[in-house]
Amino acid sequence: MVELGCGTGQLGLFLALAGRPVLGVDLSLTSLQVAEAFRRRAGIVSARLVRGNLFVPPVLPASADLVICSGVLHHTGDPEGGFQSAVRLLRPGGCILVGLYSRAGRLLLPLLRGRHQRQATDRRGLAWYADQHEHPHESRHTVGEVLGWFERAGLRYLSARPGILPGQPEGPLFQSSDPGGSLGQLAAQLSWLGRAADGGLFLMVGQKH
Ligand SMILES: C[S@@+](CC[C@H](N)C(=O)[O-])C[C@H]1O[C@@H](n2cnc3c(N)ncnc32)[C@H](O)[C@@H]1O
Repeated sequence: MVELGCGTGQLGLFLALAGRPVLGVDLSLTSLQVAEAFRRRAGIVSARLVRGNLFVPPVLPASADLVICSGVLHHTGDPEGGFQSAVRLLRPGGCILVGLYSRAGRLLLPLLRGRHQRQATDRRGLAWYADQHEHPHESRHTVGEVLGWFERAGLRYLSARPGILPGQPEGPLFQSSDPGGSLGQLAAQLSWLGRAADGGLFLMVGQKH
């Protein structure tokens, strides 16, 4: 498994705890140093952390079963270009999980800025506040847009969190489900308007043909 933009490695190292081979890639040396220190302390031997740019990833094309890229592409200048770069790492049948800021999910975020600032009283809270409100660049995305990325990259849609259709039961992440149509997707995304407090991130999973 490859995690692009692994940051301090929380997700990738958690997944590696079970002995899965994980390669974490990030631009930030400071984040990688935090991740590496944790990896050593926890004795996680199946993970490796390397510095690299997801637009020119230090990974062989068509070599990964799973690529995870969450919370990253919306901070770059070319989210779809970064997505296509990530997909090139997948072997046929491999899956990608992408996490992006939702247009609806973050619409009301500016209204919460003052409250979030007052609530940020310890280091963890301050880091969360800075991550949500003070980063230099973000783009916001819709389900339809990401389904378009999937189509152009030769991926079939598998699943999403939260669900992209109202009332659709949450099935397994890596099993095919119905993406529905644009009206249903719009209704689901409108219900995400209330999700600004948790960052308004949504996840979509696709599989390479
Ligand atoms: C908000 S953090 C998310 C970290 C992690 N994925 C998570 O969910 O906790 C975004 C990370 O993306 C990294 N990043 C941004 N652009 C990148 C690029 N072009 N190549 C690799 N990493 C990048 C940043 O250094 C940062 O660690």
